[in-house]
Amino acid sequence: MIEKIKQYKDDFKNRISEVGVGEELRQLRTDFLGKKGLVTQVMKDMRELSSEQKREVGRHINELKNWIENEVKEKTEKLKGASSEGGDRSFDTTLPGRKEARGSLHPITQVMEELIAIFVSLGFQVAEGPEVESDYYNFEALNIPKDHPARDMQDTFYIGGEKVLRTHTSPVQIHVMEKQQPPLRIIAPGKVYRCDSDVSHTPMFHQIEGLMVDEKVTFSDLKGVMNIFVHQIFGEKTQVRFRPSFFPFTCPSAEVDIQCVICSGKGCRVCSQTGWLEILGAGMVDPAVFKAVKYDPEKWTGFAFGMGIERIAMLKYGINDIRLFFENDLRFLQQF
Ligand code: FA5
Ligand code: MG
Repeated sequence: MIEKIKQYKDDFKNRISEVGVGEELRQLRTDFLGKKGLVTQVMKDMRELSSEQKREVGRHINELKNWIENEVKEKTEKLKGASSEGGDRSFDTTLPGRKEARGSLHPITQVMEELIAIFVSLGFQVAEGPEVESDYYNFEALNIPKDHPARDMQDTFYIGGEKVLRTHTSPVQIHVMEKQQPPLRIIAPGKVYRCDSDVSHTPMFHQIEGLMVDEKVTFSDLKGVMNIFVHQIFGEKTQVRFRPSFFPFTCPSAEVDIQCVICSGKGCRVCSQTGWLEILGAGMVDPAVFKAVKYDPEKWTGFAFGMGIERIAMLKYGINDIRLFFENDLRFLQQF
């Protein structure tokens, strides 16, 4: 038995030189001193010995145990010391590596890309315009003269002179039509600004504008495109409703509602018991807008629409406060 104990000591010596600290070292200690460890086994075998032999063997076992504990302690301290002194750069290769944190696209960007993909598949091209606009593009050319009450519909940030932060993406319609002749089909995604803030309004938000101009474009083309887009974003079963409305740059104008995604049209707090939720404004391009860009209103007709991307994202994911999108709370963002 004493031979066995000596053998264990040699075994331990060999093995400890091969392991690192941490899990490997703990495992090695358990292999020898744990409940089912080698040394513990020897102690159990001692039952068959005479009391004389027990004393002799017990002494060897105790020595071995103390020696092992000491070896483990020394090894741990030596490596700790080395890493804090920074001299010997040994480190524990057995520890799991640190994972690199990976970012992901913001939910608004994800929904925006999804929307763009749908309209691109319908033949629309992406256009862009400036966020700082002149009064002319944001209002005048869209048939909203200076004293028009429709200016009150949008709380404008004026930034001096004739410049404003655009309140909607509709001015991109004007930029595109000034440069291009029909037929055309464009969408214009981007940031817009309004002096407005509560659970469903933020001072900066995103819109996607749509514009299609051709010969004989009708309101039913608009309805068809709206139906396809709603069904792709919210599912085939979602009902779409057109409600008469007013925009100076379209006539006739409508607001498009979808069946409430929370209560499926039964009526709840989110839809104010109506069963419907507004998602965008739309209509047939007003002849006054065509005149401003020198298109012949007798020859061309078109439809336009403008939607708030945050609103769509809120409905799609059941989010009840628009401000969550802009707080940069990782617990929120990591859900997407
Ligand atoms: C417009 O901005 C029109 N330019 C839309 C349009 C385009 C009509 C083309 C006809 C033809 P409105 O002000 O309703 O319309 O805004 C459109 C959408 O933007 C709203 O349905 C809503 O989804 C979103 N929205 C408006 N204000 C805010 C805000 N402060 N925060 C977040 N989303 C908003
Ligand atoms: Mg509106």
